Amino acid sequence: MEKIFQDKVAIITGGASGIGRSTTIAFASRGAKVVIADMQDGRETLELVMKAGGEGVYIRCDVSQDSEVKSMVEKTIQTYGRLDFGINNAGTEGVQTPLQDLSEKDWDKTININLKGIWLCMKYEIPHILQQGKGAIVNTASIAGVVGFANMAAYVSSKHGVVGLTKVAALELAKTGIRVNAVCPGVIMTPMVQRGLGGDPEIEKAYSNMIPMGRMGKPEEIAETIVYLSSDASSYVTGHALVADGGWVVQ
Ligand SMILES: NC(=O)c1ccc[n+]([C@@H]2O[C@H](COP(=O)([O-])OP(=O)(O)OC[C@H]3O[C@@H](n4cnc5c(N)ncnc54)[C@H](O)[C@@H]3O)[C@@H](O)[C@H]2O)c1
Repeated sequence: MEKIFQDKVAIITGGASGIGRSTTIAFASRGAKVVIADMQDGRETLELVMKAGGEGVYIRCDVSQDSEVKSMVEKTIQTYGRLDFGINNAGTEGVQTPLQDLSEKDWDKTININLKGIWLCMKYEIPHILQQGKGAIVNTASIAGVVGFANMAAYVSSKHGVVGLTKVAALELAKTGIRVNAVCPGVIMTPMVQRGLGGDPEIEKAYSNMIPMGRMGKPEEIAETIVYLSSDASSYVTGHALVADGGWVVQ
């Protein structure tokens, strides 16, 4: 693997699982030092990083809490002395129900993790990435950030918010050398989706049939999209919401 991120440092939130885990490994195997920032234990991902010959740390962090994000970014700087990439990916699927039945608590939880969490991460990452004069931020939105889905009011609102917030950040940083983009995955086989499928192969088949490519995505495929948006291969791309969904939203 070409070490295109050698000597660079990347924070990957939600790095303990799914898309975040694959992205952590994709960055580490390209030479980046990786910070796995997650509410759940990230040591299993860290072992995979080491196995791939990479270097990293796990820092426990709830991205919805200002003080925890601030401290996670400070620990990153104390450990590695710099920051080049913010991969703001932690998220929750929230509760699926008609919007009039959604509780205030469930609305707040989804918005606080999926939207406020991305803002907090950028707020504390940006001053450090600015010191490098170059860098990239990739925020994980969703196809639910570009189209609506019934019974997913908080999730869809949070992900549309991520796309908007990404555009604002891209404009604010456009002249600084920092590019800010969003990735919008379709249905990707991760623990989040496995929870939704409940282990039922019939539901899995039904989902796959709704996707023009006829299959769900793999977390590694989203990781590669995030690598692209972080690398010089996308040097003129900023403020973009890149859909990677097997053709779902163009139907
Ligand atoms: N899997 C899909 O089909 C799909 C599709 C579109 C978008 N996404 C988005 O991709 C991202 C990753 O999802 P995934 O499918 O890998 O799910 P996942 O459940 O496998 O991983 C999500 C990770 O985020 C962490 N997390 C959740 N809340 C957190 C918090 N408050 N603070 C810190 N970490 C927290 C979890 O502990 C977990 O490790 C999410 O933002 C999700 O909305 C996923």
